[in-house]
Amino acid sequence: MLVLEKVTKTFPVGGGSVKVAVNRVDLTIEKGQFVTVIGSNGAGKSTLLNLIAGRYLPDRGRIVLDGVDITRWSEHRRARFIGRVFQDPLQGTAASMTIEENLSMAERRGQRRTLARGVTRSGRSRYRELLAPLGLGLESRLQSEVGLLSGGQRQSLSLIMATMTRPSLLLLDEHTAALDPKTAKQVLDLTTRIVGEYGLTTLMVTHNLEHALRIGDRTIMMHEGGVVLDLSGPERTRMTVQDLLQEFTRVRGADLLDDRLLLT
Ligand SMILES: Nc1ncnc2c1ncn2[C@@H]1O[C@H](COP(=O)(O)OP(=O)(O)OP(=O)(O)O)[C@@H](O)[C@H]1O
Ligand SMILES: [Mg+2]
Repeated sequence: MLVLEKVTKTFPVGGGSVKVAVNRVDLTIEKGQFVTVIGSNGAGKSTLLNLIAGRYLPDRGRIVLDGVDITRWSEHRRARFIGRVFQDPLQGTAASMTIEENLSMAERRGQRRTLARGVTRSGRSRYRELLAPLGLGLESRLQSEVGLLSGGQRQSLSLIMATMTRPSLLLLDEHTAALDPKTAKQVLDLTTRIVGEYGLTTLMVTHNLEHALRIGDRTIMMHEGGVVLDLSGPERTRMTVQDLLQEFTRVRGADLLDDRLLLT
């Protein structure tokens, strides 16, 4: 279970003033819950995920994961319990390392540095088992450099790397946005399969309202650093993309024409 209490993060914007990126957010996510996060550009979605992952420390508030207060923990220390996949396929994997080296690194994520250990035979067979169900043939290319993979293959590998230690929390920040629609769908299907199979507590940022409503079991909308809509159960099931767009217009009180939302 993840609990945020009055979490606030500001950034200096010059001239002595600040931008409140995340504003007193209270949020409780039950164990195993799959939450989709929507909101227009600059709403604070990535900052919220960055606060949870420890990339930024909050100015105020508390973050508690499975009963442990991790508010002041470093990003590295949290990495053992939190898996992440970013929008940019280049970000989640090391291009000049092989598939098996990436997997081995991910397996030891957040642990104390040990003497550089090579990839073991048992590691290899474990990696093959993890990769085979993807249907991408990666299991027979363990010694290929990751830089040779396509964007979709890299995102699939990132997802495996983020989840292979069965983290307490999985954070996905528009992880299919840079992919073509067909590949995006494959990576999304893989996402729901892994999350379901491992019962992972998950936060997934998306600009696709259809995905936001139909994937997972709860949808939150952010606006100006706050959570302005929180949907689950029958209320969420009944909600259409059209209704959601209306909600957007209502909270923003302005037109949406230049928003990326309408383009997806
Ligand atoms: N490192 C930073 N330094 C200064 N300002 C930042 C930083 N990170 C985010 N911000 C600002 O905080 C606000 C929230 O940004 P954030 O990236 O969280 O939005 P977002 O909801 O993820 O938007 P998008 O949909 O465009 O990804 C924005 O005004 C942004 O400019
Ligand atoms: Mg973002």
